[in-house]
Amino acid sequence: MDIVVSGIRSTGNLHLGNYFGALRNFTRMQHENKCYFFIADYHSLTTHPIPADLHGNVRHVLAEYLACGIDPEAATIYLQSDVPEVTELYLLLNMISYTGELERTTTFKDKVRNQPDNVNAGLLTYPVLMAADIIIHKATKVPVGKDQQPHLEVTRKLARRFNNMYGSECFPEPEAYNFGEKLVKIPGLDGSGKMGKSEGNAVYLSDDEKTVRKKVMRAVTDAGPSEPGQRIAGPVKNLFTIMNFVSDTSTVKHFKDQYHDCTIRYGDLKKQLAEDLIGFMKPLKERIDETLANERYLGRVAREGAEKARESASKTIREVRELIGFRPF
Ligand code: TYM
Repeated sequence: MDIVVSGIRSTGNLHLGNYFGALRNFTRMQHENKCYFFIADYHSLTTHPIPADLHGNVRHVLAEYLACGIDPEAATIYLQSDVPEVTELYLLLNMISYTGELERTTTFKDKVRNQPDNVNAGLLTYPVLMAADIIIHKATKVPVGKDQQPHLEVTRKLARRFNNMYGSECFPEPEAYNFGEKLVKIPGLDGSGKMGKSEGNAVYLSDDEKTVRKKVMRAVTDAGPSEPGQRIAGPVKNLFTIMNFVSDTSTVKHFKDQYHDCTIRYGDLKKQLAEDLIGFMKPLKERIDETLANERYLGRVAREGAEKARESASKTIREVRELIGFRPF
């Protein structure tokens, strides 16, 4: 049995990347393993959400988690900010993290490039907080998309370093995991490599049908294949990749064949993709709306989750404090 930890930042609603990168596999794992799933609301602060929005964002992500099939009876689901032990471990791990290695993390370098006016210390130590999230429960597996791989490397390094420094086997080295598949990267509708919350290129699980159609019909493509047998490349490849996740294999084959013999019409491809996305997301969206309306249920799940998560986290913190040398008088 593995100990599994995964999280999602409460920066906005969940999109297809979150679903296929992390959630879908997590729901499959929750009955055979000890699973923790949390909402990374501290992590969301790096982009300075306004106080009036913070709780609503968290509530929405909680409802989405549940709607996607996370079962609070089987897994532990909680808010990061409800478990203060995480912040204590974060502080302790900061002492064994070197600024040079954090500055070299590719995700940090991307942030420096993309948001040069807000390079706060929280961004630099973002992977340290993430490591604390993971090892606080002594996780062995972390279901994530490909974009989180650099953070998992930092986590493994810190777990190893802590063990070496304090001569213990306290923390296992957790592995990035995607249920028997390679780590997934869902691309954006704008032709870019990754669907993301801040990139404006995402389909959200809570998008209504009209929005999905509009987004897909506007997706970036190209002039079309110029010779038979041409390899699918460029921005239209993104649409095929997304199609692989939501459409029948026969549908994907139909459009691939058309691409390869140069008869494809991107308008038809997009219409089909939009309908398949709508069909795929319909039950999810219905459950999201239902769950959001059930305030008492959401409150109970969050409270019970916090209690279970703190039980596991406080056990680890006691052990860590002991190893570091803190002793009660
Ligand atoms: P976040 O909120 O950006 O994304 C949550 C999960 O969704 C995955 N994901 C994707 N997977 C495939 N294709 C995409 N386009 C795509 N976009 C997002 C992410 O890989 C992730 O698994 N730092 C994390 C949150 C976090 C966390 C943790 C995760 C904090 N602590 C501990 C795991 C363990 C983040 O920002 O994810």
